[in-house]
Amino acid sequence: MDTRPIGMFDSGIGGLTVLKEVKKVLPNEEIMYLGDTKRFPYGSKSKEAIVEASRNCIKYLMKKNVKLIVIACGTATSQSLDILQKEFDIPIIGIIEPTVRYLQEHVKSEETIGIIATQGTIRSMAWEKNIQEKLPNIEIKSEETPLLATMAEQGWTNNKVAKYTIKEYMKCFKKIDRLILGCTHYPLFEILIKKELSKKVDIINTGEKVADYLKKYLEDKKIQNSNKIKQFTIYLTDKETNFAKLAKQLLEQEIEIKEAKF
Ligand code: DGL
Repeated sequence: MDTRPIGMFDSGIGGLTVLKEVKKVLPNEEIMYLGDTKRFPYGSKSKEAIVEASRNCIKYLMKKNVKLIVIACGTATSQSLDILQKEFDIPIIGIIEPTVRYLQEHVKSEETIGIIATQGTIRSMAWEKNIQEKLPNIEIKSEETPLLATMAEQGWTNNKVAKYTIKEYMKCFKKIDRLILGCTHYPLFEILIKKELSKKVDIINTGEKVADYLKKYLEDKKIQNSNKIKQFTIYLTDKETNFAKLAKQLLEQEIEIKEAKF
């Protein structure tokens, strides 16, 4: 047993979709969540900038004495995970490996998998590399959907603009078997996405896959927490945002936000 918290970070509100799923399957784990709102959006930044930002988030969380780090961000996972796993002496889990693990268990035949994500994630080809290494017969269709994370930070996830944007972005995904929401902000649009796709399409919220993977990981390493303790603490690098309002809606509870200075 290890009662230390789990550290988690994203550029903003998106990672809370991961936090929400993790809390469902691991209610006893305390989470320290860092939203790097000062540097949002990560999706349009260079690889160097993302590695630097992610490195600083990890250093900040390590000072809070966390037992492991979850990169609750597709952009940071795709561009910095490999590099930072070598730099730090703490387990770091991203969103791609848990999702590929799920695909390995569930994909039975030749399928077509769609991926939507930020520009940085799509440019990195990290999803393609990781999926095709394990499932070479899969056809992948990936598309940048750069407007969505910014709309989510504005709380525009179910208005006219969101409906129109999702309709446009979904046009090229009419013949797929699954759709990976490759940015953690995107589960906030799940209802609209569902309406545009066939009912048979498996829409993959990576937060759910991270939560299942993490549960197994903590059990295997015997570092789960069995004491019921404080749920989570949220730190932001810039508090001048809609974060508190959106977080309250998403997590359905009052949220206290602390400032992270670095
Ligand atoms: N939630 C993030 C992701 O998964 C970041 C979006 C952004 O900052 O552009 O990619």
